[in-house]
Amino acid sequence: MEKREQWGSRAGFILAAVGSAIGLGNIWRFPYVAAKNGGGAFFIPYLFALLTAGIPIMILEFGIGHKYAGSAPLTFAKLNRKWEWLGWGQILVCFFIAVYYVAVVAWAISYTGFSITQAWGNDPTSFFFNNYLGITGGPFELGGIRIGILLPLLIVWIISFIAIYSGVKGGIERVNKILMPILFVLTILGAIRSATLPGAAAGLNYFFKPDFSKIMDYKVWTAAYGQIFYSLSIGFAIMIAYSSYLPPKSDIVNNAFMTSFINCGYSLLSGIAVFSILGHMALTQGVLVEEVAGAGVGLAFITFPSAINTLGTIAPVFGLLFFLSLTFAGLSSFISINEAAIAAIMDKFNLERKKTVIIYSIISGTCSLVFVSGAGLYILDILDHFINNYGVVFGGLIEVILIGWFFNLKSIQEHVNPISEIKTGSWWTFSIKYLTPVILIYMAVMLFINDLRVPYEGYSLNALFVFGWLALIIAIIGGFIFASRKWGNESVLVKEVENNDK
Ligand code: ALA
Repeated sequence: MEKREQWGSRAGFILAAVGSAIGLGNIWRFPYVAAKNGGGAFFIPYLFALLTAGIPIMILEFGIGHKYAGSAPLTFAKLNRKWEWLGWGQILVCFFIAVYYVAVVAWAISYTGFSITQAWGNDPTSFFFNNYLGITGGPFELGGIRIGILLPLLIVWIISFIAIYSGVKGGIERVNKILMPILFVLTILGAIRSATLPGAAAGLNYFFKPDFSKIMDYKVWTAAYGQIFYSLSIGFAIMIAYSSYLPPKSDIVNNAFMTSFINCGYSLLSGIAVFSILGHMALTQGVLVEEVAGAGVGLAFITFPSAINTLGTIAPVFGLLFFLSLTFAGLSSFISINEAAIAAIMDKFNLERKKTVIIYSIISGTCSLVFVSGAGLYILDILDHFINNYGVVFGGLIEVILIGWFFNLKSIQEHVNPISEIKTGSWWTFSIKYLTPVILIYMAVMLFINDLRVPYEGYSLNALFVFGWLALIIAIIGGFIFASRKWGNESVLVKEVENNDK
């Protein structure tokens, strides 16, 4: 049996893990989610979710990935043969994220080009929906393929293909070593310049001002937990696969703290940049920041272009800084989402990397074409809602319940503590076993009731079923189907600790 690939250095691993965590979620999602859910008051549930669920689960995933040296399905199968399906369920969640994520990165590439001349003109809303997306009347009206989206989409697939095809150290690590430092420099420059624009203070005030009336609302807590899971790339197979390539002597706990804090620090930084510019835009237009702060997709591709329009001669520079950051952050995360799935297929069917990357990229690339159609945005919106709120959260919830309650959690602690500088104590076990499951169950039930009562964003029940609920059903049933297939090489399951024997 071939030895498992390994990262070239600790810094290489951290950069790759941070590259996975920092993504569209930080630049495109975090600022808007924070502002919508109580601004400064959101930070309390957010910090709570980070400390009690984010970091403990990151340690858990780094720990099991390292100890059992396998992708999510292999790791879960080694924990208990009956749990392999959960690994595959998480991989299918990855697949659904990958096929729409690539489209948003493609938009970011297009908009990087558009920012040079501000091609969106005076009406960024109409430009985005009509000229660029060619949006149709609804999710079932596909319309044609948009060449303007197809080309950047192919570029994203090709970059991901080359990175993963070239292997863990020679490809993924190398790409992250280039992308991450550039991303940090771009964002720091952007944040400093934005925060010194006239009107920035009003934007920052809106971002940071606590609205304590919202803190008792379960939706704020759900948003905080959802954001932590998505943003840290936990609960959907990625961090297990990445840590399976760690060498035997690896400080698991420290790596988890570093990855989580760098990710959340980055979110804060990008929030500062985004809201400073929105503050400036509000000042120029003589309106309140509340009125210009758009939501979700709109924040990056409509509100931001409008804000850039108000910047005069420095507009192209800001546009480039913002959309290049979005592109780089998205690319490194997209690579990690694909690698999680590719590692799983390689482990299960005993296939070699190059062949697996070709098969996977062709199949997933073809599926992602749906998002290049005029209905792409609708389908993306529905899929994103269901996969994030249920797929990712349930992936994490079942994981902590199974490992916390039906496995010897202490044995993972005994693996992690001797190789880590900071030791996991009872706070860690308490979070995994009690706190996180209780909060996640409550959250999932409340969301579920809400989704049954109020159709998401007013979409038809048919559309919500086909693009939302059905995706979740496929993830579960598909998980069991993959798990029922024979392993290409049974011996991968026998050895509990493959390359980590101390
Ligand atoms: N962690 C990735 C993001 O935030 C998926 O976009």
